[in-house]
Amino acid sequence: MRKRYLAPFVLSALFFAACGGGDKKAEQQANNSGQGSAAAEDHSMVSPDANKPASKGKTLMDQSDCKTCHKEEMKVIGPALKDISGKYPNTPENVDKLADKIIKGGAGNWGDVAMLPHPNVSKEDAKEMASYILSIGK
Ligand code: HEC
Repeated sequence: MRKRYLAPFVLSALFFAACGGGDKKAEQQANNSGQGSAAAEDHSMVSPDANKPASKGKTLMDQSDCKTCHKEEMKVIGPALKDISGKYPNTPENVDKLADKIIKGGAGNWGDVAMLPHPNVSKEDAKEMASYILSIGK
């Protein structure tokens, strides 16, 4: 007997809960899409290069360990990439020289801290990275 009385209540409670939940979801979606479009319109924090396709050298560097020691703008353990770019003109000789340094590592050009050797990086890839570095800010 009790069960029969309760059933409609339980069902309608479920029904309202489902409805309420549905409404909330719809509201959230509306809110989210509002936020989404606001974010999409706000380009102020995005660097102008953000939409440029990444160069092969940059991609290779992102996949390697370079970022542990090199940032584009700031000295970390190794010199800032833009400082390296400022030090060497972007010539085939310098690309070649820096590619060798990327593979063999070593110290002396920026201080006593040595750059780790990268024996697994091919000369071709090292040259891509070097020419990407030397293109920064030029
Ligand atoms: C363990 C830290 C470390 C890692 C990892 C590292 N570097 Fe370096 N890098 C250095 C240091 C330190 C120097 C400065 C060496 C010197 O004084 O000659 C340097 C210098 C350089 C230079 C300038 C060389 C010169 O003779 O002026 C280039 C180019 C460079 N790194 C590229 C890379 C690339 C590309 C990678 C990733 C494949 C990489 N580095 C990974 C620490 C690092």
